[in-house]
Amino acid sequence: MPERFITPLIIVVLVLGTLLALRTTKSSSLPPVPVPSAVALAPEMVPLVTGDEPITVIFTKAGCSVCHMVPGIPGGDGRVGPPLLLGTTGPARLADPAYRGHAKTVHEYVVESVIEPGIFIVPGYPSSTMPTWYGAKLSARALERIASYLERQSEATVQEAR
Ligand code: HEC
Repeated sequence: MPERFITPLIIVVLVLGTLLALRTTKSSSLPPVPVPSAVALAPEMVPLVTGDEPITVIFTKAGCSVCHMVPGIPGGDGRVGPPLLLGTTGPARLADPAYRGHAKTVHEYVVESVIEPGIFIVPGYPSSTMPTWYGAKLSARALERIASYLERQSEATVQEAR
């Protein structure tokens, strides 16, 4: 091989090696939490939900499943927020010493989480990601039906559905 090719060849190999090394260190240090910026839901994308719709329509119209796994709701497999198994997780949130909200029951906790999501950030999940404008999109009846549905979902109901 002519000598003038050797230096450029060495440079190419070095650059490729560095890039590869960078890629491996980057992916191993990635946090387990999904990157929230990939999922955004603008208020104009969500129509008013009256609460008279079937429960599946309520969740899909509101766009909850974009970010959450909602048991029994087709396509409800978002991974940005926690799975909505409030029958299991609700009591744990209320008992969390870091909980500063006003809810006394899991039902109230769900309503509070939807209209004032900043009150309690579920550990391990990104803050300022759950939309803060749901109070303007969901009627009181829609909120009631969401809370009644979610407080009944637990690890056990997911097992049954399998
Ligand atoms: C853009 C993504 C996104 C959308 C859309 C979204 N959420 Fe969330 N939600 C989150 C994230 C992230 C968290 C966890 C961080 C926090 O507590 O705010 C969360 C937390 C929650 C919690 C608390 C869960 C727990 O385990 O304590 C409830 C309840 C909830 N969301 C319900 C809903 C409902 C109902 C809808 C639809 C009306 C909805 N979310 C739409 C991202 C979203």
